[in-house]
Amino acid sequence: MKNIGIIGSGTMGIGIAQVAATNNCQVFLYDQNSLQTEKSLEGLQKVLARLVEKGKVEIEESENIYNRIKFCTELKDLKDCDLVIEAIIENKEIKQKVFADLESIVSNECVLASNTSSISITSISSDLKNPSRFLGIHFFNPAPLMPLVEIIPGLLTDENLPQKINDLMKSWGKVPVIAEDLPGFIVNRIARPFYGEALRIVEERIATPAQVDEAMRTIGNFKMGPFELMDLIGNDINFSVTKTVYADYFYDPKYKPSLLQQRMSEAKLLGRKTGKGFYDYSGENQDSRA
Ligand code: NAI
Repeated sequence: MKNIGIIGSGTMGIGIAQVAATNNCQVFLYDQNSLQTEKSLEGLQKVLARLVEKGKVEIEESENIYNRIKFCTELKDLKDCDLVIEAIIENKEIKQKVFADLESIVSNECVLASNTSSISITSISSDLKNPSRFLGIHFFNPAPLMPLVEIIPGLLTDENLPQKINDLMKSWGKVPVIAEDLPGFIVNRIARPFYGEALRIVEERIATPAQVDEAMRTIGNFKMGPFELMDLIGNDINFSVTKTVYADYFYDPKYKPSLLQQRMSEAKLLGRKTGKGFYDYSGENQDSRA
């Protein structure tokens, strides 16, 4: 699989594009908002420059990585892809529409994948003409740095496909794990109570986000506290994931979403990507990929 399409050039899409291009793939990067693609490619140039400065990548290779990513302005530019990974907004209906459009563009051999954090893979693919070539490939943020990738077959996925993608991810230097198509898969299910309890502690005024984060970093030995992580992920994405997991487990109170996070999302206090979330990042380098 050498021609890789990526739909959505936000936080995850540009990171996955960097991973694929670093592994000698030709990448076709499409976003409905071409300004976002421009912004993300500018960000990628800075990330690559920092990798060169740190001696992690040769300058010539950094140029090759960048040049392997083709800026696409239409979905049909992805027609020759062997694999397309979708990384758009966490919304089932919008994802289904993108895949329905894509099915009439790509060949029948092209593998279709979603980077969804929480939406049922089976449900995204259920209206496709050929759902057997569809599965979840879930990278973590920042995609170039995080080794884990969850591979999620749906009920209608071809039984040989997960292993094929497992091998591809290994060849990209990732550590894949095949997970069941259950709400939140592995990591996001475990992580829901982690964020949820942290948010409740702040809502109940037991501690501030900074105090919670410091406790988890210093005493818990976590690399980042829950609020730093929510700001990295994006409060909108994190909130959507919690809503999906909550609803898909038939409103089990264990996964109840937080009103504070809902208000933060409404206010566009989304975290690093908007410059402000639980913390203020204005004037700081937003990119954590290098
Ligand atoms: P983001 O908000 O940073 O980027 C999403 C991009 O998709 C935007 O640039 C938007 O213009 C584009 N888009 C929206 N609708 C589109 C459409 N119909 N066609 C083409 N482009 C469209 O989102 P992010 O954080 O990159 O998340 C993307 C997906 O990855 C979501 O499903 C999310 O759950 C998942 N994910 C997110 C992680 C994170 O830490 N942010 C981690 C792992 C998975």
